[in-house]
Amino acid sequence: MSTLEDDIFEAYSGKVIDVHDDLCEIAYPIADFSLDIGGVPQILSVIAGNLFGLDALKAVRLEDCVFPRVIVKEFKGPRFGIEGMRSVLNRPEKPLVGTIVKPKIGLTPKGYGDYIYESGMGGLTNGKDDETLVNQEFCPLEERVVAIATAIDRVRSETGHRIIHAINVSTRGDKILEVAERAQELGASEIMVDVLTAGFAAVQVIAEDPSIKVPIHVHRTMHAAFTRSKEHGIAWSVLARLTRMCGGDAIHIGTFGVGKMQGVSLEDQKSQMACVEPMYGMKPSLSVCSGGVHPALVSKLVEIAGKDIQIQAGGGVAGHPMGVRGGAKAMAQAVDAASSGIPALEYAKDHPELRLALEKWG
Ligand code: 3PG
Ligand code: 3PG
Ligand code: MG
Repeated sequence: MSTLEDDIFEAYSGKVIDVHDDLCEIAYPIADFSLDIGGVPQILSVIAGNLFGLDALKAVRLEDCVFPRVIVKEFKGPRFGIEGMRSVLNRPEKPLVGTIVKPKIGLTPKGYGDYIYESGMGGLTNGKDDETLVNQEFCPLEERVVAIATAIDRVRSETGHRIIHAINVSTRGDKILEVAERAQELGASEIMVDVLTAGFAAVQVIAEDPSIKVPIHVHRTMHAAFTRSKEHGIAWSVLARLTRMCGGDAIHIGTFGVGKMQGVSLEDQKSQMACVEPMYGMKPSLSVCSGGVHPALVSKLVEIAGKDIQIQAGGGVAGHPMGVRGGAKAMAQAVDAASSGIPALEYAKDHPELRLALEKWG
């Protein structure tokens, strides 16, 4: 005779469906998930909650997750995705190539505008705020948005070239949509959210708001607190997949082991798959490779990750001997070379900015 507890256990407990080596696959009943109002917070509480603190487990790492249609269909996913980002930038084939304004904090709004103007004139397609910059006194967000929008328009009118720039709006949950709307109103061409510090709901509320018409760039700062140990924590592929479901158009996934940030290629390949693999019709998110990147690393990145990526460099542009515009040109040239399968050293023969970059970083 089964007890009530037995029945509940049978109905709602996770089931181990496969074990190989130290990896085990667990399936949770759909009934465990409170979809319409639970969303990502409740999903994570189920699959990545108390699990990590269980005495019975010395260490445990959530390596990946797959969701059935009924869960995926609860989410709208990216509004732009890869195709949308490409058409905004009129860049059908090549990787998007961007920069992070450096120094990461301290520049005035005019300093930002000048940096993005130089970056656009050098042929970059994307700029972004660094993850620690939002609305500090030395660079008020509204003034920065206007200075950057003016610079972007100048590049466009002088050369026809398009560059967009992600404004970091990461702030408290009850203000973030208002800040994003204000930034867009003042001319922001892309919105950036630090998903782990601002929350998945922050990405989702901005992505799903009908008034927001620009792409969403998602930085993953703080991820290494979960992802770095291969013994205990959560792989980024799990969190990247949830970020895609919440509407991230461009998502940081690391540098496949070629940049400054500690990371191994397999992990980043899993994260890229989470961004692009078919998910019941949900648009794929663009994988962003950033962190210690410079022109000499571009061909390796494209070789590993393919062309549907956004490669960006902060120091790898700002630190160029010829300054920001030279660094921008070197990065754009490195992407052009990699896109046409020409070795960078070969291409550098008649592209002095790339040659100088290879001499400095190669
Ligand atoms: C980023 O926010 O993407 C980084 O700060 C990259 O900067 P780096 O290219 O200088 O490492
Ligand atoms: C940085 O901000 O230094 C880099 O973008 C690191 O970002 P990642 O952790 O996504 O590689
Ligand atoms: Mg940064």
